[in-house]
Amino acid sequence: MIHDFLSIHDLTPYQFSHIMDLTREVKEKPHRFRERLKNKILAMIFEKPSLRTRMTFETGMLQLGGEAIYLAPSDIQMGTREIPHDVGKNLERWVDAIMIRTFANQIAVDLAQASAIPVINALTDLLHPCQAMADFFTLKEKIGDLTHMKLTYLGDGNNVCHSLLFAAAKTGTEMAVATPAGFEPDSDIVKKAVQDGQETEFKVHITSDPSEAVQDADAVYTDVWASMGKENEKSKRADLFSPYQVNRELMTKAKQDALFMHCLPAHRGEEVTDDVIDSNQSVVFDQAENRLHVQKAIMLLLIEQKNKNG
Ligand code: CP
Ligand code: NVA
Repeated sequence: MIHDFLSIHDLTPYQFSHIMDLTREVKEKPHRFRERLKNKILAMIFEKPSLRTRMTFETGMLQLGGEAIYLAPSDIQMGTREIPHDVGKNLERWVDAIMIRTFANQIAVDLAQASAIPVINALTDLLHPCQAMADFFTLKEKIGDLTHMKLTYLGDGNNVCHSLLFAAAKTGTEMAVATPAGFEPDSDIVKKAVQDGQETEFKVHITSDPSEAVQDADAVYTDVWASMGKENEKSKRADLFSPYQVNRELMTKAKQDALFMHCLPAHRGEEVTDDVIDSNQSVVFDQAENRLHVQKAIMLLLIEQKNKNG
C-alpha cells in the first residue's frame, strides 16, 4: 500500500479496487472497525472552508476509535508563518496522520515529503482524490460494472474533474468532458490519465459541446463554475458557462435513467437546476455519505500500515 494518499494517479488499479472493497466492508459492518484506530490522532489542516470534508474526516476518526484535531486557516498560515516542511516535522512528533485542504498542490506534496506520517489530500487547487473515490464507490453501488459505463463531466475542468479522470483511468470507465474553451482540464493531467488508462482501455473525449458529451451518459456530473479561491471570477464566468448548466433539457439527452452527480456545495440555478438536483436521478447525498466510508477505509489502510512498518 502507498504511504500517503495524495492523488489517485499514484494508485495501482489493484490498490484502487482494494480501497473500494474495504469501503464496502466499513460501510456494511461499521461495528467491526469501532476500535481499529484507538488512541490514534488525525491533524486536519484546513486553509479553505468545508462542510463535508471536515465532518466526514472527524466523524470517521471518532467512529474508528480515534480523534481528530481541526486546524483552521488562521492557525498555521502555511507558507507565511511557517513552511510546509517544518509543519510536517512538528506534526509527526504528535499525531498519527495529517489531512490537508490547501491551495497549491505542491504544499500537500512538500508536507508529505517532510513528514514520516501519512498525509491525505483533502482538496487542492489541482486535485480532490477523496471526492473521486467516494464518487466511484457511489457509481459502483448504483450502476455496478465500472468498465461498461460512461461518465460525463460538464463545466470547469477543475480539481474534481482531474481526480475523476484519474479514477476513470484506473477503472476503465469511459469519460466525456465538456468545458468552455480555455477551461479544459489540465493537459498534463489528461496525458497522465491516458497513460494510466492503457492497462484498462480507458477512453476519454474532451469537447466544448455539452449535448455531444452527455450522449449515452450513464451519469452526468457537474461542479461549481468558480472554485474556492476563484470567487472573484464568478460573474465573468457566468455567461461563458451557462450553456453547460445541467437542466432537465440537457438530462433528456443522456441515457433515460442517467444519474446526476455533484460533489457539493451546489450553486442551485447556476451549474444545476433545482428540478435536476432534487430529482430521483440525483445521488448527490449518497456521494456525500460515501465520503465518510471511503475516508475511513483510506485512514485504516494508511495508519495501520504505518504502525506495522514502524
Ligand atoms: N465536496 C466537498 O469536499 O465538500 P466540502 O467543501 O464542504 O468539504
Ligand atoms: N471545485 C470545488 C470543489 C469543492 C468541494 C472547489 O475547489 O471549490
